[in-house]
Order: sequence, then C-alpha cells, then structure tokens
Amino acid sequence: MAKFAVITYSTYGHVTALAQEIAKGVESEGAKAHVFRVPETLPQEVLEKLHAPEKPADIPVIKPEDLVEYDGYIFGFPTRFGNIPAQISAFFDSTGGLWATGGLYQKPVSFFVSTGSGGGKETTVRSTLSFVAHHGLIYIPLGYGKVFDKLTNVSAVHGSSPWGVGTIAGSDGSRSPTESELKTAYIQGSEFAKVASKLAAPATAKSEPVAEQPAAETTQEASDVKKTAETEVKNAPPPAKTEKSGCCVIV
Ligand SMILES: Cc1cc2nc3c(=O)[nH]c(=O)nc-3n(C[C@H](O)[C@H](O)[C@H](O)COP(=O)(O)O)c2cc1C
Repeated sequence: MAKFAVITYSTYGHVTALAQEIAKGVESEGAKAHVFRVPETLPQEVLEKLHAPEKPADIPVIKPEDLVEYDGYIFGFPTRFGNIPAQISAFFDSTGGLWATGGLYQKPVSFFVSTGSGGGKETTVRSTLSFVAHHGLIYIPLGYGKVFDKLTNVSAVHGSSPWGVGTIAGSDGSRSPTESELKTAYIQGSEFAKVASKLAAPATAKSEPVAEQPAAETTQEASDVKKTAETEVKNAPPPAKTEKSGCCVIV
C-alpha cells in the first residue's frame, strides 16, 4: 500500500483543516496518509503575541529523515507575502542530506495553501519549484480537470487555484474553510493518490509483459523509412554559406 505524508505548517489552523480533508481524500483511494507538521521556528513568546493557538497534539513533528519512508508528499502552508513561510523554508533547507543522496528523486509532490485575502496563493506554491527541481520531485498540481466547477465559480469566494487547493482565512483569520474548499481539498488528496500510487508501485509491477517484436530493420516499414532518408540526403541542396560571429554561426 502506498504511503503519503501530508506535511503542514499552520499558525492558526486553517492549513490543518485542509490537511485533514486531503488525508481523507488520499485514503479514499486505498493509500495511507499521515499528517505531520514541520518544526516551529518562532519562540513561544512571539507565538503568544500573535495569539497563535497551541499546536495540535495529535499531529507529530516530521524530521527530514522521515521523508524517505514515504512514497510522496503533499505540503501545505499559509502564505507570507506571496511566499512560503520561514518554517517551511527551514524544513526544505534541512533536506540537504537527502538531496545529496537523491533520497527524494522522482517522488511525487503536491502543495496547498491558506491566504488571508487570496493575494499570493499562486506565487506561494510557485516559489516551491526550485525545491521541486533540485530534488527531482515530480510536481502534481491540482489543475482544473476534476474541480472545474469549484475553481471557476465566481459567485463564491474560494482560495484555490490550479496550483493547489487553498482557503481564505480573512484578514483577521476569522473565516473557516468552506464546504467547497474542504471538498476541493478532498479531491486534491484523492487525485494525487491515484497518480502517485502508480509511481510508487514496484518496478516489476509497473512493467507490463511486452509481446516479442520482429527486429525493426527486418520490417518493410523500417526499410521504406531508410530508403526515403537516403533519397532525401542525396537530393539535399548544398549547405548555405555561413558567416562566423563570436560564439555562433549565422546562416
Ligand atoms: C508576515 C505575514 C505575511 C502575510 N502575507 C500574506 C499575503 O501576502 N497574502 C495574504 O493573503 N495573506 C497573508 N498573510 C495572512 C496569512 O496567510 C494567514 O494568516 C494564513 O493564511 C492563515 O493560515 P493558518 O491558519 O494555517 O496559519 C500573512 C500573514 C503574515 C503573518
């Protein structure tokens, strides 16, 4: 059974609420989902000044080395000026050892967000792409395919984009995720699990037995292609005169 980690940072709980729905969506596809949080980097006295509630006791803190135990990752975080929060950035930085050994190479990853007003919901996810590229992770966006009605519904406020599900917390954090946002989170989880579980399957299960084919050179088609190519080379015009300039050849 494929096993996925839903990895969050949340100051006020909006991201946590989406994470629970994403995990349910993952499990609806027969995969396992474990919800984690990254280490907090703010001192307790600052968190108190921010009126941040206690972290949920049932969500364990993830360590970078735990990542290798999972077949893929769905990261969720609130935006900070259209960017990822420092807590997520610090966690990404702590994966340097895994980068060096290719520990996350070609594992699937997806993202989701919470924003106060919606400003920065797309750039926040986009700012993770260097992390994705350097690890060789495979990015699975939400897209429009299964949530077209929800993403294009302009009569209801929502915090999602094709980059990932999102919620809008309100400028004072008083808005809770709506039913539609929670449903979108569930769908992102289930759609991610469908694709990511295939990538997680053992190599032997992935490769279908292939019927034996005659060698390409012996088929009539291959011989015709070869003849056409030879004729094209024979009839080709002489190469154009070139003028060398710096590093490049200008024809
Ligand atoms: C320093 C800082 C920067 C923020 N920048 C943005 C922003 O660019 N756009 C926005 O809509 N909300 C912004 N917010 C609001 C947070 O995104 C909001 O508190 C968060 O989505 C709530 O999610 P949480 O309950 O999971 O922590 C910012 C909050 C802080 C503290």
